[in-house]
Amino acid sequence: MKNLFCLNLIGLIVLLSSCAQLEGRTRASFNQGWKFYLGDATGAERPEFNDSAWRKLDLPHDWSIEGEFDVNNPATPGGGALPGGMAWYRKTFILPSSLKDKIVFIDFDGIYRNSEIWINGQFLGKRPNGYISFRYDLTPYLNYGMKSNTIAIKVDNSQQPNSRWYSGSGIYRNVWLVTASKVHVDHWGTYVTTPVVNNDSATVLITSKIKNGGLQPVTLEIKTLLYDGDSNLVAGSSATLELSAGITGESSEKLVVSHPRLWSVTQPNLYGVVTQIFINGQMVDEYNTPLGIRYYTFDAEKGFFLNGKPMKIYGVCNHHDLGALGSAINTRAIERQLEMLKEMGCNGIRTSHNPPAPELLDLCDRMGFLVIDEAFDMWKRPKNKFDYHLDWDKWHTRDLQDQVLRDRNHPSVIIWSIGNEVPEQSFHPEGPHSPADSSGIAIARELAGIVRSLDPSRPITFGADQVDGESNAVIQSGAIDIIGYNYRHHYWKDVHTKWAYKPFIATESASAFESRSDYTMPSDVIRRAGTGNQNLNTDFTASSYDNYSAVWASTHEESLKEFFKLGFMAGTFVWTGWDYLGEPTPYSWPARSSYFGIIDLAGFPKDAYYLYQSVWTDKPVLHILPHWNWTKGKVVDIWAYYNNADEVELYLNGKSLGIRKKKGEDLHVMWRTIFEPGTLRAVSRKDGQIVLTAEVRTAGEPAKIVLTADRNTLKKDGRDLSFITVKITDEQGNLVPDANNLVKFSITGEGAIAGVDNGFQASHDPFRADYRKAYNGLCLVIIRSSDSSGRVKLTAASEGLSPSTIEIDVK
Ligand code: GAL
Repeated sequence: MKNLFCLNLIGLIVLLSSCAQLEGRTRASFNQGWKFYLGDATGAERPEFNDSAWRKLDLPHDWSIEGEFDVNNPATPGGGALPGGMAWYRKTFILPSSLKDKIVFIDFDGIYRNSEIWINGQFLGKRPNGYISFRYDLTPYLNYGMKSNTIAIKVDNSQQPNSRWYSGSGIYRNVWLVTASKVHVDHWGTYVTTPVVNNDSATVLITSKIKNGGLQPVTLEIKTLLYDGDSNLVAGSSATLELSAGITGESSEKLVVSHPRLWSVTQPNLYGVVTQIFINGQMVDEYNTPLGIRYYTFDAEKGFFLNGKPMKIYGVCNHHDLGALGSAINTRAIERQLEMLKEMGCNGIRTSHNPPAPELLDLCDRMGFLVIDEAFDMWKRPKNKFDYHLDWDKWHTRDLQDQVLRDRNHPSVIIWSIGNEVPEQSFHPEGPHSPADSSGIAIARELAGIVRSLDPSRPITFGADQVDGESNAVIQSGAIDIIGYNYRHHYWKDVHTKWAYKPFIATESASAFESRSDYTMPSDVIRRAGTGNQNLNTDFTASSYDNYSAVWASTHEESLKEFFKLGFMAGTFVWTGWDYLGEPTPYSWPARSSYFGIIDLAGFPKDAYYLYQSVWTDKPVLHILPHWNWTKGKVVDIWAYYNNADEVELYLNGKSLGIRKKKGEDLHVMWRTIFEPGTLRAVSRKDGQIVLTAEVRTAGEPAKIVLTADRNTLKKDGRDLSFITVKITDEQGNLVPDANNLVKFSITGEGAIAGVDNGFQASHDPFRADYRKAYNGLCLVIIRSSDSSGRVKLTAASEGLSPSTIEIDVK
């Protein structure tokens, strides 16, 4: 056992998150070797059912992303316009006789939705909520030795619309097979808090729930060990517990860590708690819990403090889909999203509007993000005809409890959110959610009560969009600790004044529309649009100058300016970090994905990315827009985002267009000039010294394809990904900003194409393909490694262009 802790931090984290083979307990991926059938299959729950003609696949799997975009799909463009339906999954497996004395569980991180599960023909249960993690005890129904077992799962996502964005369909998150001794730490059975933390020491409280699933009473010794990120044992204790047969008992330990390495967004130091259970000196279970030692407060006047230091939460909201990969979870794809956001200066994530994949929280712990972990987008009243309101009465208590139990040990999680803009928030008779009632008061109190009963250590918020607070039932209920407010930045001050004793965050801000590298002029006229084709470009693009937003919201710059003025604000969560499938506001079909992201669906930053980077980070930024391919004589606006400098001077073909300095609260500068082809060059200066230069040149005709991989070496695990940017350039290597060439891919070696995209919101080309048209000069191909070592060779070719090849190592 000891060797286990001769691991570096990464090893420890891998250990904590994957729980490799441990004494007494195993937790193994159960993703491989499933059979799949799209449609209903009578009798498929029975073990003897013949599934030999079914498709073979490995999980996680999202069948919707494999389908075709169609306005008639019941999800509607709001849900991504991809098919839903019903499907079955089956897996046949054997278990060694040595497991006969063990308990065997199956853990699902999430199935969208209405899963019904049978093991060897016995019904285990149904979970309607597509975002919740759950476990079944398989033990009473299992066969051991040569006799096989069959698990059958029916997934029903046919009643749509049931979501305001793309959900995906199927067993889209990981599945685990857990074996444990009859006496074991219960499911999500530990709770670790740090009630006292300072630079000298931290008190760590650990409560462990132990279940005696055997037929005899037992006396246990429970050892609680605390390791730092370098695998040094830093504290430990031991206790005894007597448990009658079939009983679950609890043990609480208090450990002290001296000179703790605190967890923060810049130094996400992690510890690990190991709970060991011994009977008669023999270890029967070992269970790992992640720990980050930190303390934080929200102050109504001063905002947010982490480890005693004031800071602002620069956050984004994100939905759960991974673009071309759909909602099928892939840890590297989430990590890439977070890496790009971190690079932009983002330090907060709101899991809008549902419990996330556990891997997202593991990554946020490790990478240093502050998380609002949100439960619901609706309560008892619907937002969509077939959404979770139908399951509310029966399931909300259980689902919320399960979310809190699963996530309450993550240091990254700092706020629970009990909902977003639910219709029950308004009891104003003339409010938008009429007929209004006051049911929101009781529901908010009930939900907050559930959360606090399981985790009193974190504050609770709610995403409100009712402006005055007086008619907002959730705010009025007194149940929430932090006023969470969506948009309407002009009211932030008023709402705060009315509710001045409560801390305040913008749970959603901005909601600006942009397509990467599309520009509508004049750039200094701000346009607003609601849903459905107002103020729009006929080609279903939206201007990438930050000059276009939802009527209920603002441009990025408008909300940032207000945010920086209001010192009481603890943080802001931009809607959204990444584009997502569904909700193509302000358009509808043929658009099928959102325009709100700072980063497009393929992962290419829009110009707003550099606005945030220039105000959320200290690293020097100078970014100019637009591209420099216009018709001769056109009046063109040029913007620059910059920081760490007093001024920017712009030159067109060597001739100065003048010096600009940000005035007042402004976050960009602008020049207006008549286009002539050539080179636009910006120079930022501080105290007369050059800080940065940025250049954009008029590109010629498309001539070449340039491939750039985000990673040149992949793990041979069949899951790792390399995201390859495909750039169409002219002979000189300048990006051709309106190139839309069709690029064809061929791949050989130890990898396969997992998806393609170009970030354009109205494209109907499939994501699973070996071709993609460029959009504004770029497209993306995602390579997935195989499980053997070697190389992958990808060639990209397009008519009239020189082809290009890239090689990736798989190790
Ligand atoms: C909010 C809502 C989000 C998203 C956003 C778009 O009102 O909470 O889920 O729909 O509007 O602006």
